Amino acid sequence: MHSTFIKTLSATLITVAIIYPFWPATVWVLVFIAPFTALGFYDMFQKRHSIRRNFPLFGRGRWIMEEIRPFIRQYFVESDTDGAPINRMFRNIVYQRAKGALETVPFGTRVDTYRTGYEWIGHSLSAIDVSDVNEDLRVNVGGPDCRQPYSASIFNISAMSFGALSQNAILALNKGAKSGGFAHNTGEGGVSPYHLEHGGDLIWQIGTGYFGCRDRNGKFSPDLFKEKVSLESVKMIEIKLSQGAKPGHGGILPAEKNTPEISRIRGVEPYTQVNSPATHTAFDSPLGLVQFIAQLRELSDGKPVGFKLSIGRKSEFVAICKAMHESGILADFITVDGGEGGTGAAPLEYTNSIGMPLREAITFVADCLTGFGLKQHIKIIASGKIITGFHLVKNMALGADICNSARGMMLAVGCVHSLICNSNRCPSGVATQDPRLFNGLVVPDKAARVAHYHAKTVHATAEIIASTGICHTSELNRTHIYRRISQYEIKRYDQIFPYLPSNCLLDGSIPDLFKLIMQEASSDIFAPHNCLTRIDNECREIDMPEEMAVAEKTTTTEDR
Ligand SMILES: Cc1cc2nc3c(=O)[nH]c(=O)nc-3n(C[C@H](O)[C@H](O)[C@H](O)COP(=O)(O)O)c2cc1C
Repeated sequence: MHSTFIKTLSATLITVAIIYPFWPATVWVLVFIAPFTALGFYDMFQKRHSIRRNFPLFGRGRWIMEEIRPFIRQYFVESDTDGAPINRMFRNIVYQRAKGALETVPFGTRVDTYRTGYEWIGHSLSAIDVSDVNEDLRVNVGGPDCRQPYSASIFNISAMSFGALSQNAILALNKGAKSGGFAHNTGEGGVSPYHLEHGGDLIWQIGTGYFGCRDRNGKFSPDLFKEKVSLESVKMIEIKLSQGAKPGHGGILPAEKNTPEISRIRGVEPYTQVNSPATHTAFDSPLGLVQFIAQLRELSDGKPVGFKLSIGRKSEFVAICKAMHESGILADFITVDGGEGGTGAAPLEYTNSIGMPLREAITFVADCLTGFGLKQHIKIIASGKIITGFHLVKNMALGADICNSARGMMLAVGCVHSLICNSNRCPSGVATQDPRLFNGLVVPDKAARVAHYHAKTVHATAEIIASTGICHTSELNRTHIYRRISQYEIKRYDQIFPYLPSNCLLDGSIPDLFKLIMQEASSDIFAPHNCLTRIDNECREIDMPEEMAVAEKTTTTEDR
């Protein structure tokens, strides 16, 4: 197996030896091949990679190909609808809108309108002119206990911390938010000086690490919170329970990105991997959560307080609704992150297979709030691959009031989708703490792009709703969107996700689908509190043919 390397080396040496007497300069070839020879011998004797042991030097080609494969795919092979997590068509529209470039599409759709899952909005023959839509399209956030309601744009920057993103990216996002009049979520890393420099509206996210309001033991500090929450820029507070890309895991700040500056802001050891705990220490039950909401609202002098989660077990969200109903303490908003959500770093199984996808999660949350009679007080914010105006209207038709984008905003600020956010080598300077890379990101230029992308996406949303014949996104509902569910059948969203009657989870008319969930949910514990075994037994007894049930009972008794 080593023979190719040995033969090539021998052939080169013999050739040099033959030519040398006639042309002594040939000896320089030896200088050129010396490092390759050393690498080849190193490969031959190292024990880590069998390919390199078997094919010294030449085996390295495999790693080189692996390294350049994403670039070849992205630049030469990928079609418009290819590319994950965000396909080329959506990446391009962000770039075009951000740069103010031509954004129309020639020659018709490239999407297969006959594939299962294709979705569209039903326009109206009484479409109105877009100038009749109030393009401001803002939504007031703040329930009955809120004393400083916030008028939010329908499209905002989703949570991404300074740490996951570079200082220049944070500066550009915040400057863009300021000029475009929309909000910038700090992410769980807390408020950094870069979030404050340009004065854009902030949603301060508080994760399980309580960064920015944590005491020496890593617990929530009311005093530190009070100090920071009074900042003029902080408009709302978001308690992070989980995020779609890694629910139940807690945040990860890779060691290379944990610079001395970030560690100072967060109160942790520099250059160590910082794993935030999976759960909060300030509360451990739904009632505890709502008490914490009340505490933060008081400490913030009545600013809107909400929480962000990715839906896991349905009964746990119902348990929170029960806690809100029983205590009368309401969140002002709930951010629902789809399982398809993005992250700087997460284990593969978490990104792929944990967390409910956004469509189902939004409808479930909206239905629960309607069923508990809470919907009119609590705004729902959606996040999860929301990039275009159609993504906004689709989610708002399902039940969201406001939408957030993380990766769309990253693309607007210069991300080129190289998919190495977890390595500190981000070439565009967006998701890195390496000054040699982030200094290449010019803040004023990228801030203008963020503002353009936002404005054009809101304008596209306004145009869509105008074509639908309505004046505000709050008028959207599930009857507006159609989905192909097979080659021959389409359904409207209200047929796929039927509306729940108002207050039906409070009176005796609980729909069948919610009966078990309602039994499992209790306001004093997140996990299902009872009856699981009983329900499992009941189901098994119902499903099992009689003779099998008898046989099983006999075996079980005998085994015991
Ligand atoms: C680089 C990066 C960092 C993120 N950091 C946070 C975070 O600190 N807190 C959080 O709740 N979500 C975080 N998220 C998730 C986003 O806020 C958002 O919920 C998710 O990516 C879905 O939105 P998207 O599909 O528009 O990216 C992060 C996402 C990315 C891409």
